[in-house]
Amino acid sequence: MRPRAAHHLLAAACAASLAIPLAACDRTPAPDTSAARPANAELASFPAEWTYKPGAPAPTAAHGMVASNCPLATEAGVEILKAGGNAVDAAVAVGFALAVAYPEAGNLGGGGYAVVRTADGRSAALDYREMAPAAASRDMYLGPDGDPTDASLVGYRASGVPGSVAGMLALLDKYGTLDRQKVMAPAIRLARDGFDVDAALHRSLERNAKLIARFDGASLFLPGGAPPAVGAHFVQPDLAATLQRIADQGADGFYKGPVAEAVDREMKRHEGTITAADLTAYKAEWRTPIESSYRGHGLVAMPPSSSGGVTVAESLNILETWPQAAAWGSAEALHRLASAFQLAFIDRNRDLGDPAFVTDPVARLTSKAYAQTLRARIADDRATPTSTLSDTLPEGNQTTNFVVVDGHGNAVAITTTINSLYGSGVWVPGAGFFLNNEMDDFAAKPGTPNQFGLVQGEANAIAPGKRPLSAMAPTIVLDTGGSVLMLVGGRGGARIITAVTQAIVNTIDHKMSLADALGAPRIHDQALPDRIEYEKGGVGADVVAALEKMGYQTRPGGTGTLTAIRRVAGGWEGMVDPRATGLAAGY
Ligand code: DON
Repeated sequence: MRPRAAHHLLAAACAASLAIPLAACDRTPAPDTSAARPANAELASFPAEWTYKPGAPAPTAAHGMVASNCPLATEAGVEILKAGGNAVDAAVAVGFALAVAYPEAGNLGGGGYAVVRTADGRSAALDYREMAPAAASRDMYLGPDGDPTDASLVGYRASGVPGSVAGMLALLDKYGTLDRQKVMAPAIRLARDGFDVDAALHRSLERNAKLIARFDGASLFLPGGAPPAVGAHFVQPDLAATLQRIADQGADGFYKGPVAEAVDREMKRHEGTITAADLTAYKAEWRTPIESSYRGHGLVAMPPSSSGGVTVAESLNILETWPQAAAWGSAEALHRLASAFQLAFIDRNRDLGDPAFVTDPVARLTSKAYAQTLRARIADDRATPTSTLSDTLPEGNQTTNFVVVDGHGNAVAITTTINSLYGSGVWVPGAGFFLNNEMDDFAAKPGTPNQFGLVQGEANAIAPGKRPLSAMAPTIVLDTGGSVLMLVGGRGGARIITAVTQAIVNTIDHKMSLADALGAPRIHDQALPDRIEYEKGGVGADVVAALEKMGYQTRPGGTGTLTAIRRVAGGWEGMVDPRATGLAAGY
């Protein structure tokens, strides 16, 4: 086991992939610019040094729309929509296609969350987060010196029991209209017949070659020691067989039989933790969604075991205590945002955990009255140190979101992950997928930071069968009449929460187009470390100076990357964060 210091390398790799703007990948077609700016959007103004210019176009579509981080997966969703599937059918097709064509984060070996809003106004939330295996124990990642090691991040002991297959099938079962064979056909085709490697996949494999090379995925993903060339045809026969089993047998095709046996065998061979019995016992859980509001707009968001919905709702509630939004990008606006994030993260980090193990104070944390009491703790003109706000915290940042709407008005926002890019690095031979390293989302040692620098408490300590607290925040925003206005979610660990919140604020308060709401520079504050991180070039030097004068520590840093869809006159516009790869497309 390597000491915990190794985490910083991984965190740096993750943060770097978040902070560095990536060119859209080669397959991204020129967007339809016919409705670049909805009638009610105002032209945003960003600092001159900022990478993205306001007024960028977003693809639009009259019927259904899909936005994901992988063009092939988006195309799979659009194929299912065109074949008469609803948003859930298409989302399930996207989920499985991501597992094939976007292996850095799309997955069978991970987990996630889905928020659904049906055309007739019903909301639902599905938790298919990984669960700690039965062999897990509170101190399993502490080395002889009592400090966390890197075993929660890399290798056979880093994984929770995967929930993605159970999740996709539960969604399809409850809200889908097409059969499994039909919705899984695009993914099976991509795995069995292959696809051409694009620049994004090539680069992703190249950047993560060191991790992949340590385990059994190396022969497939790094043939001859290097990733397949751009344009090379890439076929995944083991994964195709696993997907076909799932299509034929349902969840049993994954959680029992040859696939489960392959996982069990690898785990035993390498002193891993997951057993066949853990796989059989896995269950996805339907939860009551967080239903909140922001300035008259409804919010449908993910409850625990993700902290995403609570923390986004709590942050927005605090911001709503100011009847008027401050000018976008001003020191005052950033002070309000940072203060709201700081307070909401203190509660998140201390109080939230798997509802099967702890009592999450969801109603209290998301109440408007509580937001007023928090607002009273925010000084008008200066920063408040986290240490003076929280006495229970000691001192002390890969995932993919996709969103789908159909012609009826059904909407699904999903975030799924194997945590770091390529998860634990472990790839299951014979079954063809990477396993997650979601165990690192637990507080391995309550009070000590994880790879995202999050300092979390007892509520998120490790226990067998427990789900690690997540920051994933697939969110659906409703208009004042209760119809779907916007779907948004993202990747970036704790930065998901702050990125999603800012996209909502940009849309509602600052009336930005979807492209501007996503392209606008963002900040991040998670209480500890006690500082504002801002995207380089995104906050003017005068504003940084004003924040520092208020007592903030500031430094350039990364943000999450988002995918979103928004209703516009005559249909939908979709957008993939300009910082990320992917495709928004519809019909
Ligand atoms: O569930 C969570 O909060 C994390 N496992 C998400 C990880 C993530 O977004 C990685 N991206 N950089």
